Amino acid sequence: MKKQFLTGLEFDQAANLKLLNLAQQIKANPLDFSTALQGQSVVTLFEKQSLRTRLSFDIGINKLGGHAVYLDQQNGAMGARESVKDFALNISTWADAIVARVNAHSTLTTLAEYSSVPVVNSLCDLYHPCQALADFLTLQEVYGDVSQLKLAYLGEGNNVTHSLMLLAATLGTDFVAVCPKGSSPDAQIVKQAETIAAQNGASVLVSDRIEAAVGANALYADTWVSMGDNTPLELVKEKYMPYQINQQLVEMTGASCVLHCQPAHREFEITSDVMDGQKSKIIQQAENRMHAQNALLVSLLNPNFA
Ligand code: CP
Ligand code: NVA
Repeated sequence: MKKQFLTGLEFDQAANLKLLNLAQQIKANPLDFSTALQGQSVVTLFEKQSLRTRLSFDIGINKLGGHAVYLDQQNGAMGARESVKDFALNISTWADAIVARVNAHSTLTTLAEYSSVPVVNSLCDLYHPCQALADFLTLQEVYGDVSQLKLAYLGEGNNVTHSLMLLAATLGTDFVAVCPKGSSPDAQIVKQAETIAAQNGASVLVSDRIEAAVGANALYADTWVSMGDNTPLELVKEKYMPYQINQQLVEMTGASCVLHCQPAHREFEITSDVMDGQKSKIIQQAENRMHAQNALLVSLLNPNFA
């Protein structure tokens, strides 16, 4: 079977724990891994904007002794000049892996179908599994055993919510998505997460009431408007403001840690005092993108090194 990382569900609980452990090792002793991807090239494709993902993959691959090649939309959208199938067939003759940030998940499944090398999802409309890995690496650093935690996500049910929910379920973390009516996460993914959570002694809850976040160890925010949706933030402010992560919410829930995948819109989904405050692990979380992704790339491309 070809190795892929399209939804994150390719890795079960044991494989995820191994990956997180490897990420901690890479973070602690980076020089031990400086040749792990020697002679390997990774193409990073982007249909959407990025700061963290682009740089953490590029710099991370470099630190593993590999070569990253960035491809954006300057030559036109993927599928316009030539088909996604032909992208995959050509790229995989030269590269050892493809990391892709795409508009539609179906682009990733087509890339994966025709690529002879691993394809990694670095965000699509449905999932952001590399983000979730970094988030759980951060939670593990803060708390140790993540299976004892309750994590509450507040805001729009989206790609980040889905990946967090699925990884929480896999690792046995209780998960609550607190989203306004009409902005709930995808019902099918919630169902899938519920099934996985039940196998791991965890729970998944979706609610529009912020009281559902009470007792959460960690609170998590994402933008209220995702890339590709041009709705001005001001227009959704009234709908989402009750879900803002602010000092009052942190106190009400009793949370001791605050996360945000970024880019953040200060004073919208999170206030600056919380984002810059003591409970915020947001910059640690951003740093961990690189360590988590490096662990993933080593596992996919040079498992004997791990
Ligand atoms: N969190 C995240 O994926 O950030 P970028 O969109 O900047 O890559
Ligand atoms: N939900 C956001 C995540 C950005 C990292 C988006 O898709 O734009």
